Amino acid sequence: MDRLVEIEIKDLAFDGKAVGHLDGKVVFLNAGLPGERVEARILKQKKRFNTAKVIRILTPSPERSEPRCQHFGVCGGCAWQDLAYERQLEHKQRQVVGCLEHLGGFENPPVEPIVPCRPEFGYRNKMEFSFHVDSDADYGFRLGLHERGRWDRIFDIETCHLPSARVNRIVHAVREYVRTADLPVYDVNEHTGYMRFLVFREAFATGELLVNVVTNTGPWSDRDGLIAAICSVDPNVTTIVHNENGQKSNVAFGEQETVLYGPGYVEEGLLGQRFRIRANSFFQTNGVQTSTLYETLFATVEMQPSDRLLDLYCGTGTIGLLAASRVASVIGVEEVEPAIVAARENAALNAIDNARFVRGDCRAYLREQAPSDGPFSVVVTDPPRAGMHPRVVQRLIEYAPERIGYVSCNPSTFARDARQFVDAGYALERVVPVDMFPHTKHIEVVARFIRN
Ligand SMILES: C[S@@+](CC[C@H](N)C(=O)[O-])C[C@H]1O[C@@H](n2cnc3c(N)ncnc32)[C@H](O)[C@@H]1O
Repeated sequence: MDRLVEIEIKDLAFDGKAVGHLDGKVVFLNAGLPGERVEARILKQKKRFNTAKVIRILTPSPERSEPRCQHFGVCGGCAWQDLAYERQLEHKQRQVVGCLEHLGGFENPPVEPIVPCRPEFGYRNKMEFSFHVDSDADYGFRLGLHERGRWDRIFDIETCHLPSARVNRIVHAVREYVRTADLPVYDVNEHTGYMRFLVFREAFATGELLVNVVTNTGPWSDRDGLIAAICSVDPNVTTIVHNENGQKSNVAFGEQETVLYGPGYVEEGLLGQRFRIRANSFFQTNGVQTSTLYETLFATVEMQPSDRLLDLYCGTGTIGLLAASRVASVIGVEEVEPAIVAARENAALNAIDNARFVRGDCRAYLREQAPSDGPFSVVVTDPPRAGMHPRVVQRLIEYAPERIGYVSCNPSTFARDARQFVDAGYALERVVPVDMFPHTKHIEVVARFIRN
């Protein structure tokens, strides 16, 4: 289909796509800002909407700002970098309100002004770069990020402005090292080759940096060469680890980890506590805004010294551990074993003895163990993007905690779950969007429910 049309962009959709109208139907476009007229090619015509690709912008919006990044447009990250940051914030704010109104059925939802992230670059403490076989590339491979909309194409990163400059320097050094050592790069189609990913975890408060080299199965044979290559550009790297992943699924996760240099972890400082972060442990990925997110949560939930806190989907226990000194006791629940091990390790590291961590599925925990562990006066829940299962929400409602703090990385599933809490007699009292991901479509929300 090759139909060229002119469309005026009216809005940005929740997934970051631009929205316009044509022949009485909604059109979702890959680019464009509200107020702009664009020439676009219709790609798909569905019953209720069309999709289109922008060919050129006919009248640019005054909101368009010069993207800082040379890879903008090619790179799959930072799709909103050409929209002034203040406008990005306005769109995110509107989307949270829109989800609560349209998906949650709330009239005038109590959404407070979004908390911006400052600075809006250099905030990422975790980055994953992929190795990719490419006969068009100078050395027959690339090391970088995914092209926009392409899971099967990687471009060579020169500079990424989301992590620190240290990370960029090491990417260049490792690319050069792999080239001179002639290490075979993993081929995602053939499942042959060795080098798969280069992952970074940086602790902003302490300046510690972990470098994780993920390969196909097989030991790392040139430990000294890799350490020399990395430390020649950053002598302050804290630790280097090697993870082996023989699975076909293309994820930067190791089944077998070997520490090549340093202790195998970095320590981050957050609101007066220390947290050990390893290559495969979950930790909020915005190194400048995480303390704001948690402080917003604590200010929103208003914990009391007599509270018994249940921290659902607790990951490495960060929320429960930071709350431990404000409440009488904490129980954290999380299904991933290494995260629970890290939570216990972090509790010991901070000499916290009123927090306990349970490994298991939240639903099973609420059904089987919560009756003997409870009652809980306050519950914090921080589920993955899919939100909470309706039965988990139902179980939680049956325990009738006075206050529920909800941290969400997906306003649409949050709106759905919020409706269920409210229909069961809770009041949605506060919703605070916190921008954890500038220049991307992602939105984080902190909310408080009170039992009526
Ligand atoms: C958004 S993270 C929460 C992280 C944590 N609260 C923090 O601030 O660092 C969601 C966590 O839920 C866990 N998870 C997902 N489904 C789960 C389930 N059904 N039961 C228990 N934990 C689950 C994931 O492993 C992940 O660690």
